[in-house]
Amino acid sequence: MTTAQLQASDVSFRYGEEWTVREATFSVESREVVAICGRSGAGKSTLLHVAAGLVAPDSGALTCRGVGYDELSESRRADFRLRNFGLVFQFGDLIPELTLVENVELALRLTGTRKRPARERAMAALDQVGIAHLAAKQSGSVSGGELQRAAIARAVVHEPAVVFADEPTGALDDKNSERVVELLFDVARAQGAAVLLVTHDRQIAAACDRILTIADGQLV
Ligand SMILES: Nc1ncnc2c1ncn2[C@@H]1O[C@H](COP(=O)(O)OP(=O)(O)O)[C@@H](O)[C@H]1O
Ligand SMILES: [Mg+2]
Repeated sequence: MTTAQLQASDVSFRYGEEWTVREATFSVESREVVAICGRSGAGKSTLLHVAAGLVAPDSGALTCRGVGYDELSESRRADFRLRNFGLVFQFGDLIPELTLVENVELALRLTGTRKRPARERAMAALDQVGIAHLAAKQSGSVSGGELQRAAIARAVVHEPAVVFADEPTGALDDKNSERVVELLFDVARAQGAAVLLVTHDRQIAAACDRILTIADGQLV
């Protein structure tokens, strides 16, 4: 039996009285890219945040490589997330005062990787996404497409089990979107990661291995 990179079983989440995610069950395997699609307000981002352990579900269970999120203490869970998950959001979400390479190596430094190997791996990750030549630029001074490439480098530099991406191309034009998504898929597959990607772009969804559609908080 193989263990899924990510398994959600009957996961529900509510804001106050409103159930935003209802009994979601799905898994994502190594090298698999799964899209989450649905209208605005359907619960896509909430489902992603719950799946990534950023918020705890009100009921149901989540496991990554067989480890249950709720088996971990709060501090161990934070460390577990840093080591096993990579995150990409719509607007890069890098620290503008830091250079691109400093942003990327931060993902490693936070889990105790020493300065020099962290720098080397960060440079290699920037090279993988085609922007090694921009490593010393402050992230506040590069284009949107370059920023999202750097965000991908940061999300994969520690070779996570799962990469979570929430509309990572939402702020990009078509040509940049296509390229950024291709890079995300290539790197994740090369590393054996699973990818869970929220998108409203049909073309991007069609390029994924599988599509989960959510409506009113429910997978359909
Ligand atoms: N912090 C919050 N407090 C209360 N309701 C929220 C909050 N965030 C999102 N919601 C509600 O949850 C529902 C799903 O939101 P979201 O997951 O962001 O949808 P999507 O990403 O599909 O657009 C929406 O009805 C939204 O208004
Ligand atoms: Mg959203």
